[in-house]
Amino acid sequence: MQIDVFTLFPSWFDWFRGQRHVVNAMALGSALETVDYRAHTPLRAGQVDDTPFGGGAGMVLRVDVVEAALRAGYGEDPVGLRKHRRVIALTPGGRLLDDALATELAAEEELTLLCGRYEGFDERIVEHFCSDQVSIGRYVLAGGELAAMVVCDAVLRKLPGALGHEDSAHEESFSAALEGAPEYPHYTRPAEWRGWPVPEVLLSGHHARIREWRRERSRERAERRGGESLS
Ligand SMILES: C[S@@+](CC[C@H](N)C(=O)[O-])C[C@H]1O[C@@H](n2cnc3c(N)ncnc32)[C@H](O)[C@@H]1O
Repeated sequence: MQIDVFTLFPSWFDWFRGQRHVVNAMALGSALETVDYRAHTPLRAGQVDDTPFGGGAGMVLRVDVVEAALRAGYGEDPVGLRKHRRVIALTPGGRLLDDALATELAAEEELTLLCGRYEGFDERIVEHFCSDQVSIGRYVLAGGELAAMVVCDAVLRKLPGALGHEDSAHEESFSAALEGAPEYPHYTRPAEWRGWPVPEVLLSGHHARIREWRRERSRERAERRGGESLS
């Protein structure tokens, strides 16, 4: 999978690229590249933003600047690009990232993520260059970089081989294996600590009973959360 992130802060992704599951995904043929809007701006002095028409606080990321960066990255008109590639604007009001969306995106061969800054994007960027808008939650971050990393993390760890242990991604919170419910609780040694024992069934070695116990705990957690995540 090839992921390209358009940003004003490409160096933020250096740390992310060094994380184990990202390194694994890269070693298995995926790529995570960054494109700096400022490196391609057609404006003087590295300008990328401007004051909003109609007034108001803050600055807005310019449509001509984002177009120039996308053209530099792909050598084509970004209006056509979104017809054959997912071009995602990170926006607070976009489609909420959940496990289903992460799975959907992990099936793509190529992804483009556009990070906003300041007051956000000139709306024409979203309207004419993007196929989707994605939000990582109903709160506002200073910029799209952390949101892009969250999307990349959720997507890359789904790729075969990215996690050391393949079962980790198969049976985890919100997966089909748990019918969309949160995961069951885990315990490790010591078997008792300060009078807090590990549930006896987990020490029994009885795999069928353990599986059933885990499934029940998972369902209970879903019910406690209003059943919202049980499919
Ligand atoms: C300060 S925010 C702009 C907020 C915008 N004025 C609003 O009220 O919706 C700057 C940029 O951060 C990114 N961003 C902030 N919160 C986000 C979220 N919850 N999910 C995805 N991206 C987010 C977006 O790229 C956005 O353009």
